[in-house]
Amino acid sequence: MKKIFLMSIMLLGAIVTYSNAKDIYLPSPNRAGGVPLMQALNERKSVRSFSPQKIDEKTLSNILWSAVGVNKEDNKRTIPTALNKQNLDIYVLSEEGAFLYDALSHSLIKITDNDIRQKKDAPITLAYAIDKSKLNKDLYSAMHVGSSYQNVGLYCASFGLGNVVRGSFDKEKLEEDLKLPENIEIFVTQAIGYPQN
Ligand SMILES: Cc1cc2nc3c(=O)[nH]c(=O)nc-3n(C[C@H](O)[C@H](O)[C@H](O)COP(=O)(O)O)c2cc1C
Repeated sequence: MKKIFLMSIMLLGAIVTYSNAKDIYLPSPNRAGGVPLMQALNERKSVRSFSPQKIDEKTLSNILWSAVGVNKEDNKRTIPTALNKQNLDIYVLSEEGAFLYDALSHSLIKITDNDIRQKKDAPITLAYAIDKSKLNKDLYSAMHVGSSYQNVGLYCASFGLGNVVRGSFDKEKLEEDLKLPENIEIFVTQAIGYPQN
């Protein structure tokens, strides 16, 4: 009886901890629509000034799914990866805090409540991080990152969003703000929002 009571308390504790975590289950991505691929390629460009308009959850869902979401029943992704090593982690930085995208559950895991964006006029920034414990090859890792930000760039071109890939950011500070362990390194960031007219 005592054992059951203890287990119930532990279960309740886990539920409370979980609901306190403020993780976000994203709506399902919309896997259709947008302009034809050739038109998106024609319209892809860097945008560096953004309007204050926020990005809604549905759009964020589509962006992250385009970046590295699961698009096949075997859990493989929208980007190809060397040896099928899924070593790319994407962090979403916003005014509401920073989150890690979990592609398998299509959800956001809250990392911090702090606004750690470095380009504040863009409503979100994606930080592309590589987990070296999964595949420690910088060349392949950079290819994974490039495939992913290009998918996002094409999504943006297709749906009227602006974006810019940013290699110039304070890497040390961002890794510290995200409390990343030694094996995880941010390669590049990408600011996203609606273009300022
Ligand atoms: C790896 C990488 C890093 C970049 N870093 C920056 C950056 O720090 N700041 C910036 O304004 N643009 C940056 N860019 C965007 C390039 O300047 C831009 O893609 C290039 O000028 C071509 O313009 P377009 O994207 O409009 O075709 C970067 C692009 C890549 C691929």
